[in-house]
Amino acid sequence: MDIRYIEKDRIFVIETDNTSYVMGIVDEEGFLGHFYYGDKIGSEDSSYLLSIIDPQYTPSSNNRDRSSFLDRFPFEYPGSNVGDYRNTGVEITDANGNGSISLCYESHNIYKGKKELEGLPATFGNENDSMTLEISLVDKVVGLRAVLSYSVFEGIDAIARSVRFENISSEALFLNKAMSMMLDMEDEAYQLLTLHGSWARERMMEIRNIGYGDTFVESFRGESSHQFHPFMALVQDGDSQDNGKVYGFSFVYSGNFQAGVCKSQFDSLRLYMGICEKNFCWKLDSGDVFTAPEVIMNYSSAGLGKMTHTFHDLFRNHLIRSPYKDKERPVLINNWEATYFDFDSEKLIAIARQAQKSGIEMLVMDDGWFGERNDDNTSLGDWYVNENKIKGGLKKLVDEVNAIGLKFGIWMEPEMISPASKLYKAHPDWAISVPGREACRSRNQFVLDITREEVFEYVYGRIKDILSSANIEYLKWDMNRQLSDLGSAALGKDRQGELSHRYMLAVYALQDRLIKDFPNLLLENCSGGGARYDAGMLYYSPQIWCSDDTDAIERLKIQEGTSLVFPLSTMGAHVSDCPNHTVGRITPFKTRGDVALSGTFGYELDITKIPAEDRAAIPGQIANYHKYNELVRKGDYYRLASYRQNHEYDAWMITQKDGRKALITYVQVVAFPNGKRRIIKPKALDDSRIYEIWQDDNYAGAAKGTTLKNAGIAVPILNGDYRSMLIYLVAKE
Ligand code: GLA
Repeated sequence: MDIRYIEKDRIFVIETDNTSYVMGIVDEEGFLGHFYYGDKIGSEDSSYLLSIIDPQYTPSSNNRDRSSFLDRFPFEYPGSNVGDYRNTGVEITDANGNGSISLCYESHNIYKGKKELEGLPATFGNENDSMTLEISLVDKVVGLRAVLSYSVFEGIDAIARSVRFENISSEALFLNKAMSMMLDMEDEAYQLLTLHGSWARERMMEIRNIGYGDTFVESFRGESSHQFHPFMALVQDGDSQDNGKVYGFSFVYSGNFQAGVCKSQFDSLRLYMGICEKNFCWKLDSGDVFTAPEVIMNYSSAGLGKMTHTFHDLFRNHLIRSPYKDKERPVLINNWEATYFDFDSEKLIAIARQAQKSGIEMLVMDDGWFGERNDDNTSLGDWYVNENKIKGGLKKLVDEVNAIGLKFGIWMEPEMISPASKLYKAHPDWAISVPGREACRSRNQFVLDITREEVFEYVYGRIKDILSSANIEYLKWDMNRQLSDLGSAALGKDRQGELSHRYMLAVYALQDRLIKDFPNLLLENCSGGGARYDAGMLYYSPQIWCSDDTDAIERLKIQEGTSLVFPLSTMGAHVSDCPNHTVGRITPFKTRGDVALSGTFGYELDITKIPAEDRAAIPGQIANYHKYNELVRKGDYYRLASYRQNHEYDAWMITQKDGRKALITYVQVVAFPNGKRRIIKPKALDDSRIYEIWQDDNYAGAAKGTTLKNAGIAVPILNGDYRSMLIYLVAKE
């Protein structure tokens, strides 16, 4: 890792172990250009890259035709409305009502370490393991400074980028758009990979061609969303794990976003990622600062596999702060799919008793324990225990569960308010809404305007009281609807466009306070399943509920898309009951266990009611969890085969960093009669070591790493659909 400024050439070089990123200052006006991002190159000889700026195009030599330059130049951070007609990085309205901006070089600063982004989630690093470059660009006419920040991390091929805006004029101006990342490059036959979805089918992979104009995904739903995900990658070889160049981008933000690529008339590409410009307008008073959230960029010359490893390593080492990230999490049982709203303390205690006998370590009480909440029409906001259900109160229940030998966890949805609640009766204006219009209901609830101090304090106060009232060691923080009817009684009419981002800042502030006040709390984020599964939330919680779809077969695709970007240790995954509540599918208990093993692992069923045979299998599954969890948490993840592609089977592998142990999960989705042998080829084993092969705990021989990698392992034909097998490879010495 290194960052240099080569003064004689006016070039900035950012290096990771295997990649280079080159920018240069050109022309008298000081335009900052982007000249290279890819495999590591020599930096001292890269000045010739800037010579693509033919003098006839440079504004100072050809003022007559400035736009020939401006509309072609690979801007590091393009402004708007000055002669570059491609997509814009920043758009403003100044004190005169005008909207042109052109940002040019002012100064720079290179230092060891990395600063925090105030109020925002962001990667972190110290003076020994990270380095940062800040380049100040300025538009003197408007009086706006943009400080571009780039950080690199020891041993990780990623760059973290963000932008800080400072109003240095004497009057207010409005930011109408403030992208966090812009990247101009030539098109080398790339396609765009994004993740789309819906409730219960989050993060499905899609690859599309890049046409002229804009191709993008976005959310302006107030959360990163089920529908699209704040991630994109340019890929050269489809979804190949091993081949082709890949540029991957992940937004460290959980609210509205836009991510896309604009292909110009000259076939160049302009990539962008940042807060969605829809529903965004931020007033900057004189002297005010606005920070656009961070984007993680990475480049891989060897397909998606390398991109995934880079994201996983970066997130595990420089984003997730929770003390639990390096620890085995307690195996939990959650009562949502077991009881839904129909439970009381006796039922929970019965579940806890049986769970304890099976080796489960924590009981999580989900939705329905507060106010008068016996269905989803009421009581959000009334965070007081319903003693008709929880007889004798929360502490009594928690103490009893603890006495049985289980930890206790709880569900809350702090950002919401039900129209049928005491809170709404007392404070109807606390819901986000536009005066004069009845706000749109979703799951019969409104969103609390937590940007208001009194609302924020109320919400935090309720969480704190509940968590302090008993020995609660885990919180599932849910968020079950998207934002609409954006209006805040606390913001002036010139600031209503700030609400969506202010809302996210308030969510972050709530969770930040929470984890500081309760440093040992295990926090799991959730949003109607996985609608807020993003790098932003991982800064606060080490795990996120992946999807409300707990069917093992649906989970194959959901977990494939999720693990493309996020470490397995972050994926909330539970074994649930059958027929599955979402799709009605019946899968073997073993397969449900094997698939959940690659996530946080836990149960979501009524353990007192499931078939005795399934119940008897739980201790074995938990033994597997204890055996393999360290590998799952810390190892390198490799995708070996994809059911999404082949429609028949799925396989992935986790290899210990030193190559001595590996776990392959194989799922035969549909049985096939009289077919050819199916060979699975492991990756990243040590060539010369000899590995024992264990198939579902049965010894199946031994072979050298090089043999296994090249010749592969023939998986046995399993009898029936939806069957799975765990293949464990362990080096003999
Ligand atoms: C969301 C969550 C579920 C469950 C319910 C409770 O849908 O994703 O796991 O907690 O809310 O209402």
